[in-house]
Amino acid sequence: MSNKQQKITIYEVGPRDGLQNEKEIIGTEQKVELVNLLSDVGFEKIEVTSFVSPKWVPQMADATEVLSNISRSANVTYAALTPNMKGFEKALDSNVDEIAIFGAASESFSQKNINCSIQESLERFAPVVKAGREANLPVRAYVSCVAGCPYEGDIAPEAVKKVAEQLLNMGCYEVSLGDTIGKGTPELISNMLEAVLKVLPANQIAGHYHDTNGRALENVEASLDLGITTFDSAVGGLGGCPYAPGAKGNLSTNSLAKMLNEKGYETGLDMEKLQKAEDYLSQNIASR
Ligand code: HMG
Ligand code: MG
Repeated sequence: MSNKQQKITIYEVGPRDGLQNEKEIIGTEQKVELVNLLSDVGFEKIEVTSFVSPKWVPQMADATEVLSNISRSANVTYAALTPNMKGFEKALDSNVDEIAIFGAASESFSQKNINCSIQESLERFAPVVKAGREANLPVRAYVSCVAGCPYEGDIAPEAVKKVAEQLLNMGCYEVSLGDTIGKGTPELISNMLEAVLKVLPANQIAGHYHDTNGRALENVEASLDLGITTFDSAVGGLGGCPYAPGAKGNLSTNSLAKMLNEKGYETGLDMEKLQKAEDYLSQNIASR
């Protein structure tokens, strides 16, 4: 098969998208240790934390301490979410390697998650992207609710396409398409991707599929068929979004890597070291 040994990039988002949703506040040291363990697994990119308002997401209040205290591997890019200039400045002070802005295809979700409309969010993101690029940092973008919204229900593929295109044109190198509440089915995801692929090349799209309904792996398969080669996942299947009721459970990195390995793709991950990070989670994070 032509896709044998094709490289698929797994973007580890557990320390951010996973831990942000944990109810009990997790100690900074434990977060740092988790990132350190993940740094050995072979990921090119790890999303470490987010520089958001601590009133909105208390679990990420120690973003500066976490990012400043990890032991960095030269092979890993350490990323953080930065919704506005305040977050960007703090991330820069902590020597972030890559930043991400996060918008949505749903007006209600945008309001609930970042307290502004989609249009306002784009206006707020523009200076962050500009400043990131001036600081020579790669800038990633997310679009949430690409297969449905917890507040609005169905989301049109055209709405996803429109926001994704604007984020790419702003200067983001990749747009990660988030099925925030895991409503996606292979059919919904394919339809959505076909719309986005009209304006973005496959190599600038990532799939970020929550596994709420246990369909995330099928959604990855549908995306592979359309040429997508980057997927987000979380160690131990941690996570969710505090502003998306029912968004529990990112796609587990282990399940994703196993499926890709079985299909003959190259992920570059050391499964034993991944297991060590998972063991650490189950011994140290209460909900595991
Ligand atoms: P706001 O209240 O409109 O902001 O929140 P504001 O500018 O009016 O400021 C209000 C207060 O927040 C001020 O403090 C600011 O200083 C402070 P006060 O004067 O009241 O003491 N503040 C900040 N503090 C620290 N860091 C900052 C920051 N900005 C303002 N960066 C804001 C707007 C965007 C800040 C807020 O809504 C927020 O933090 N939202 C983040 C929500 C969030 O993190 N959600 C989860 C991540 S998204 C997700 O999980 C989906 C994803 O995984 C993809 C998918 O699955 O679909 C990415
Ligand atoms: Mg997410």
